[in-house]
Amino acid sequence: MSQSIKRIGIVTGGGDCPGINAVIRAVAKTAIYQHGLQVLGIEDGFLGLLENRMIELSSERVSGILTRGGTILGTNNRCDPSRHYVGNDEDGNPRFEDLTDHCVKVVKRNELDALIVIGGDGTMECAAPLVKKGINCIGVPKTIDNDMVGTDITFGFHSAVAIATDALDKLHSTAASHHRVMICEVMGRNAGWIALTSGVASGSDVILIPEIPFSIDVICEAVMSRTHRGRGFSIIACAEGARPIDGEKMATNVDPTLPDPIRLGGIGAYVADEVGKKTGIETRHTVLGHIQRGGTPTPQDRILATLFGHHATELLMKGASGRMAVMREGKMQDADLLECAVGQRLVELDHPLIRAARAVRTSFGEYAANEA
Ligand code: F6P
Repeated sequence: MSQSIKRIGIVTGGGDCPGINAVIRAVAKTAIYQHGLQVLGIEDGFLGLLENRMIELSSERVSGILTRGGTILGTNNRCDPSRHYVGNDEDGNPRFEDLTDHCVKVVKRNELDALIVIGGDGTMECAAPLVKKGINCIGVPKTIDNDMVGTDITFGFHSAVAIATDALDKLHSTAASHHRVMICEVMGRNAGWIALTSGVASGSDVILIPEIPFSIDVICEAVMSRTHRGRGFSIIACAEGARPIDGEKMATNVDPTLPDPIRLGGIGAYVADEVGKKTGIETRHTVLGHIQRGGTPTPQDRILATLFGHHATELLMKGASGRMAVMREGKMQDADLLECAVGQRLVELDHPLIRAARAVRTSFGEYAANEA
């Protein structure tokens, strides 16, 4: 057991998702009850660390938050301390400063022996320079996108899939009544995990993911094939990062001052337009957006978040440094935080869900439905 850990900080960076509060609770209660530690919560992600904004997390303060969506600490996906936006130069280009040393000072001034860092790849990238400067960070993998390297699953993903599946189920009944094609654009950034999983769970007829570029003609064939078989409607689950074989990903906004400058979106509307024009069938599209990040976590995410929070704290107390709690093959393990901070885990093209979906004639826009 580590004798030197007495006081820890919890920071949660990047976009929020269901289950963050469950992690905060698990970390704080394990730290307080099992190890007698003092726990501080850092407000609004790394921005709060830069600005030295922290609150004490007593056991009372983290009681009753297991089921609450969002994060009681606030979060921020605009601040990377090693590349902090400080305004534009005379040519209008963004200027950045490295404030890592300032963050190290804030950690030391507050006598924090370690940080539990709850976040996705962007947040772990923010933590990496601190790790390199000797601050002990233990990561907990959080993101609805499920694209974190080093872990088979992130918390938040299951809740987002539940919300997306519910939306696709609802679109199913109205699509059937009106004999329409309904397209639902879901989140996930460059990974298709949410679209694939909710698409399979809802029995969507077409699933479009970034990992498999699509052809509009093939989607239209799948839709028309259903029409010829007497099915008067079709449901398309479309990842925000999906793209045509001969086209680029679509973005709604690009902000070079942000650590992750591109906001994907617009592909659902494009597919609806093209499919409507080419098939003559009425089409509608829905963009699910941030609804996927809101509300109470599913029981699976509450459990996963609790396991992650407990494991991260125990790792720390056993002397680990610069590690991330991960789930691999159903077991809690740990991995090098710096290695997990690099890149994104995309859907493998031979993933069992893809094979199973193809077997039941779901189209991925690359094969005609009747070739599956
Ligand atoms: O990474 C989580 C996520 O919700 C992505 O799925 C999405 O592309 C992005 O964040 C949206 O970011 P913001 O909250 O800044 O609009």
